[in-house]
Amino acid sequence: MEEVKKFLEFLRLLGYDEVKVPSINGERLEMGTFEPIEELKKLEEEAKSCCKCRLCKTRTNVVFGEGAPQTNLMLVGEAPGEQEDLQGRPFVGRAGQLLTRFLNLYGVSRNKVYITNVVKCRPPNNRNPAPDEIAACYPFLEKQIEFISPEVILCLGAFAARTILNLPEKTPISKIRGKEHRVEIGGKEITVIPTFHPAYLLRNRRGEPEFQKDLERALKLAGLV
Ligand code: URA
Repeated sequence: MEEVKKFLEFLRLLGYDEVKVPSINGERLEMGTFEPIEELKKLEEEAKSCCKCRLCKTRTNVVFGEGAPQTNLMLVGEAPGEQEDLQGRPFVGRAGQLLTRFLNLYGVSRNKVYITNVVKCRPPNNRNPAPDEIAACYPFLEKQIEFISPEVILCLGAFAARTILNLPEKTPISKIRGKEHRVEIGGKEITVIPTFHPAYLLRNRRGEPEFQKDLERALKLAGLV
């Protein structure tokens, strides 16, 4: 699938708007080109009206994600907080401002990466997302990853790392951070780097050097620095 997508993108660069392939019964079959940006927009529209779990009843806005739709680096957090819910944008509260500062430290602006969360709606009072909420929302994240097709995913906190790496519920972040993991999503092998959640850093400044090491590693692997 990944090779097909790349080939279609290549043909598009050459100016082809559609590809015709011969069908098995002799007729010619028209195959639409794969448009990841359009697919991502359609997915966002779908998410905006989603009510697959109880969080749709208490949310103000669905926080789908934002940034470069074709980037080598995706950042995935846990769930929107109060500010994110009010503004409909990921990581814009205190933890988000810290994350933005760290990116800027490396000369990288937010619009060079794609930022999203495991769960797209705010859990009331910022409680942890429940397993059934994560499961209900996962198809959105999986498709986002497939359409964006990044080389690297930086997981911000244990929820993102456990979800993307399919690890047991109680796996501590300390056990998995500091290493590169590999995962296959949409037929593509992606490097996954788990790190601390920026909200944790607000409470534990001692985690900053390790966070910075992980971020730098992700940015380098993605070719952004
Ligand atoms: N924490 C998260 O995990 N995501 C956000 O978007 C904001 C805070």
